[in-house]
Parts: sequence; C-alpha cells; structure tokens
Amino acid sequence: MKNVYLVGFMGTGKTVVGKALAKRLNLEFQDLDTLIEAKAGKKISQIFEDFGEAHFRKLEKEGVAVISAKSGLVVACGGGVVMDADNLKHMKKSGVIICLKAAPEKILSRTKNYKHRPLLNVADPKAKIEELLKARQPFYAQADHFIDTTQLSVNEVVEEILKIVKQ
Ligand code: S3P
Repeated sequence: MKNVYLVGFMGTGKTVVGKALAKRLNLEFQDLDTLIEAKAGKKISQIFEDFGEAHFRKLEKEGVAVISAKSGLVVACGGGVVMDADNLKHMKKSGVIICLKAAPEKILSRTKNYKHRPLLNVADPKAKIEELLKARQPFYAQADHFIDTTQLSVNEVVEEILKIVKQ
C-alpha cells in the first residue's frame, strides 16, 4: 500500500488522527517531527533555537526523502512540509496527501497550552496563526483531499479518511 500523508496546519490533529488511522489500517505510524528529533538528537524547538528555521527545513526535507522511499506508512507531517515543492513531489509520488483543516480559533485553543511549537511561541499567536494560514493556503491546496476537523472527533476524522483510502 502507498503511504498516507497527513498534512495541514499545526493543531489540526495530524498526529492524534495519524496514530488512530494507522491502527485501523494496520499500518506503521511515522511522525516526521519525531524522526527529525531522533536524527538530530534535539527537540524541534532546540533545533530552531540553535540553528534556525532554514536548518530545520533542510532536516525536514531529508526526512521526507527517507520516508517517501518506503511504503505502507501513515505519516503525520509537520505543518510546514508542503511549502517545499520537492517534498510535495515526493509525497505525491509515494502516496496520497490528505490535508486536515481547522478554524483559526480552534487551532489556537488546541495549541495554546503547548510550548513545543517555536512558530507559535510569540506574543500574539492568534495573529501569527492567521498570517501563516493565509501564506500557506496555496500550498495546502495542493493536497489530494481535505477534511475540516473543527467539529469532528478523532474517530470521525479517521472514518472520513478510511472512506478516501478505501475508494
Ligand atoms: C511547523 C509545525 C510543527 C513542526 C515545526 C514547524 C510548521 O509540526 O514541524 O514546529 O511550520 O507549521 P506540527 O504541525 O505537527 O505541530
């Protein structure tokens, strides 16, 4: 089976949905950020702090190249993965790309109590969310399928994805 890539903004549910989906499909789950952290021996926030975002994007790109050479994985990708054309190309070739979406208010409420996302560790995270969502919209639009998770439970999202991948 080809890989199932979950993309979308921070706080749209990629990791929690990906884990549940992998169980249902009896596939291996892979979190791209976890892979990057394991390889770098540092947390994402530390990578940003020590080396900056550009270096993180380089590691992210290497991670996509490794993962897309495999098959049968459910992959939860970091929210910015789609901004790189090569990443998108690799993911399209090796699987189906499903974009999870959510309203900005929901993203804020799901992310505000966590400090591990450097891009949202700012004075006004709501404004940052809106700014990034706008800038990234054309990139997320390149996914194959879209699911708005704002009002859905994890299981409901999983059911929606199962309909897509079993088509
Ligand atoms: C990022 C999202 C994060 C992580 C990094 C950058 C982004 O992953 O990759 O902090 O650019 O949107 P999640 O979307 O899993 O939070």
